[in-house]
Amino acid sequence: MFLWQKYSAIPRKYLAQIAAISLLAGGILSGANATAAAQAASAVAAQSTAHSVSTRQVEVIKSAPWWKHAVLYEIYPRSFQDSNGDGIGDLNGITDRLGYLQSLGVEAVWLSPVYPSPQVDFGYDISDYENIDPQYGTLADFDHLVAEGKKHHIRFIMDMVMNHTSDQHKWFIESASSRTNPKADWYVWKDPKGYKADGTPIPPNNWISIFGGSAWQWVPARKQFYYHEFYVQQPDLNWRNPEVEKAMFDTIRFWLDRGVAGFRFDAIPNLFEDAQFRDEPVLGGANAQGDPILNNIYTNNLPEVHDVMRRMRAMTDKYSGDRVLIGETYLPNVKELNKWYGGARHNELQLPMDMQVGFTNKLDASLLRKRINDAETGIDGNQPLFVFDNHDNRRSWDRYGDGVHNDQIARIIATLLFTSRATDLMYYGQEIGMVTSTPTRKEDVKDPIGITGWPKEKGRDGERTPMQWDDSKNAGFSTADKTWLPVAANYKTVNVKSEEADPNSLLNLNKKLIAMRKDNPALRDGAMVMLNPNSPSVLSYIRKGPKGEPSVVVALNCTSQPQTISLNTHSAGVDGATVTTLVTNAPELQNTHSLKNITLPPFASWVGSVQ
Ligand code: GLC
Ligand code: CA
Repeated sequence: MFLWQKYSAIPRKYLAQIAAISLLAGGILSGANATAAAQAASAVAAQSTAHSVSTRQVEVIKSAPWWKHAVLYEIYPRSFQDSNGDGIGDLNGITDRLGYLQSLGVEAVWLSPVYPSPQVDFGYDISDYENIDPQYGTLADFDHLVAEGKKHHIRFIMDMVMNHTSDQHKWFIESASSRTNPKADWYVWKDPKGYKADGTPIPPNNWISIFGGSAWQWVPARKQFYYHEFYVQQPDLNWRNPEVEKAMFDTIRFWLDRGVAGFRFDAIPNLFEDAQFRDEPVLGGANAQGDPILNNIYTNNLPEVHDVMRRMRAMTDKYSGDRVLIGETYLPNVKELNKWYGGARHNELQLPMDMQVGFTNKLDASLLRKRINDAETGIDGNQPLFVFDNHDNRRSWDRYGDGVHNDQIARIIATLLFTSRATDLMYYGQEIGMVTSTPTRKEDVKDPIGITGWPKEKGRDGERTPMQWDDSKNAGFSTADKTWLPVAANYKTVNVKSEEADPNSLLNLNKKLIAMRKDNPALRDGAMVMLNPNSPSVLSYIRKGPKGEPSVVVALNCTSQPQTISLNTHSAGVDGATVTTLVTNAPELQNTHSLKNITLPPFASWVGSVQ
């Protein structure tokens, strides 16, 4: 149904493997954080025979880098805040809203692409990697944003698209001009398989673009095809050519030198294609675009990509300030995810996204428990990054909501997100419960895949509607008569201003959870241990308080029925007698004083302190 989810769906063959892992783990988890820090510290100690390392240096290494406890927030710049009245969000608009982001507790913003672009894929088709698109502002506006961000303790993470450029990028224009130009080998060019009787060239193989149709586009000037995993206007770079790596690494340095805190690497598992260009196995059936479904073993997640990741990490590590590398990594299982960290060597990305928890798309306690356990046990002490929402998928409000209890369910998800041990990523509007507003008429669709795929695939406009700030014109997003996408119909009631005023709003719950997670020692650093690991209805766990600090217990009723539970913290080695409620979405749980026989109303979330 949704293109992005095809990677997050677990193929049948892996299910048995995952079940075996969770059985082995028995639901008991480790303080992986501490392990990683200790490993790093001892690695330094080991290297230190020549220059002895002071205790202080080791202490510094032990203290976690900023991103381990951070709340990251994705901004889709077109839709956040328009500052000049053209109906399109821009950088100065974001600068104007930094106070809000700080009040929410956001520590870093991932900016979807703001580089010059023909905007075929709304910025994911970049025509110049070292500038800002005039629609969004100037480089000076960008520097101003970063400088103002610093005052609000907010860092900026750039989206970096290395798999492909725009077909309007000067590299591609040159590459497409002949077979002999200096950049002739910068993209993935291939001769036709042959010609039909009428002279039409036949594509080299059966590869399909994720966005529909053959992944091969013919260029008469070269009498060759080029490969594009995404739109025709997004030709794939040839990562087997060292000059391509050098040029892309130069652009990464350009932004690191400018002071960005890191990158989110777009479509990063797609960098390499099979060197022999073999046909991909046909799985049968057709996708929403009407194309045959293939098993993408020759175009996705090829092992060669890890060499690039290691070189990139080594380059980034030379910069001060704990720059962070995040990956858009839809992968079939935790074993594959772990490779993106460099496993126990910790030498690739610090935060490849874990899409296994946030894209299960059903509030199933057993499944969520299993996926969280995978992240706790299967990544060699690396730091998980959980994601429930982004600009490519229907909002979690609709994917997890049952249509009746969506508000309660959104609170369960927020509680899960902020009380787990993972670093968290939110998407603008998630904090106020923005809904997916999918176009109802084909002529209104802006996202090209929604036009070619209509009506089966309606595109991604629905999750990209303007941020809802207040109940004024265009929800306070823009003064224009027409915004680039319409504002969602519910903005009069669902908006920042009205939720700020309501102590029981989803926004205020998010703020409370984020603040707690920063200050509460158990939520910051405590090991996460599942409780009642066989319950199919209630997901419950403890975050163990370090050094005699209180522990935190979480219980989430994932069903529409009341559930009575008892939480045995002794199984996790915690003997607590005093119980106090920290936060709950159910008023009747406010006075919970015992861990025995707690009756959770339908879709209740409860977080308590145990001492
Ligand atoms: C990633 C982006 C998506 C984009 C695609 C091609 O999946 O998140 O929005 O269309 O890459 O760049
Ligand atoms: Ca604007």
